[in-house]
Amino acid sequence: MSENYAGLQSVIWTGDKLDLLDQRLLPEEIVYLPLTTAQDVWEAIRHLKVRGAPAIGIAAAYGVVLGSRSAASMEEWNAAVQKEADYLATSRPTAVNLFWALDRMKAAAARFAGEGLSLDQCKEALMREAIAIQSEDEETNRLIGEHALTLFKDGMGVLTHCNAGGLATAKYGTALAPFYLAKEQGIQLRVFADETRPVLQGARLTAFELQQAGVDVTLICDNMAGMVMSKGWVDAVIVGTDRVAANGDVANKIGTYSVAVLAKAHGIPFYVACPLSTIDLETPTGADIPIEERGAEEITEGFGKRTAPQGVKVFNPAFDVTPHEYVTAIITEKGIVQAPFEENLRKLFEN
Ligand code: MRU
Repeated sequence: MSENYAGLQSVIWTGDKLDLLDQRLLPEEIVYLPLTTAQDVWEAIRHLKVRGAPAIGIAAAYGVVLGSRSAASMEEWNAAVQKEADYLATSRPTAVNLFWALDRMKAAAARFAGEGLSLDQCKEALMREAIAIQSEDEETNRLIGEHALTLFKDGMGVLTHCNAGGLATAKYGTALAPFYLAKEQGIQLRVFADETRPVLQGARLTAFELQQAGVDVTLICDNMAGMVMSKGWVDAVIVGTDRVAANGDVANKIGTYSVAVLAKAHGIPFYVACPLSTIDLETPTGADIPIEERGAEEITEGFGKRTAPQGVKVFNPAFDVTPHEYVTAIITEKGIVQAPFEENLRKLFEN
């Protein structure tokens, strides 16, 4: 990917604070919030100011840095790293990148302390670890984009759900990375972006970032995907994911499962793009993935307007699981993985 990409960065580390793009306000307002404590970061994750699996992990890593930087002794620092990491892990349950990043920060801190570094050196090294998590994500997404683009041909229509773009990651995105790459290479792709109820990540974020980049994007309501597929306008679906279980079942934004079923019914390939940090071999199947449920108000009065009767019962799961039978391939930085997923996902981690 060349440096033509000019998307907004969701997480900016300034050296002493985290400037976080408030994604709740997009596309109308571009506001960066200065975060200075682990609690600020916890709240930003919980309330979707930062969202998208890799971006959550990156923000949390900086949260550990912020939460441990005032420690006055090695003992205090070690304890603060553990405590803040455990606290940040309670912010949201589904995206495994959060736990992956926090585990990496804890392991790095233990390593630095074990190497006999001074307190100041440990703090500096831990900050560098968070920076590395962010910059590695950028490189990873570039590779995912290159692999994914091999699946698309000039003139194809591709549908995506939710936002797995630059805003959800350090840069480029996972599922949206091939669209940026195609644009640079003069390959024409027509993207259909599901609006993604109830929080509208597709409308507010995906349509926004693709339009900003000059990618041909058409916004549709979630319930239009079947109709658009039946017209023959969709040649492939590509989505991101919050967690891939060991058997290849995939948790992603609510509505993804319906899209996968529709894709199968229409004979359309269904691709999932993610870094290795989203693959959780410790979780055997999709049934074992914790699915976040969010407040009823996201459905009854989203964006400040009441659209349902007071007191109505609401079910609001933020994610669903697409069984691996519906997944054509999983695209990672190490290449494209197909069934049998159990065996082939495991191989990714072997070398
Ligand atoms: O609730 P969100 O907005 O955090 O959900 C995000 C998604 O479902 C994304 O598709 C997923 O995290 C992949 S981001 C590369």
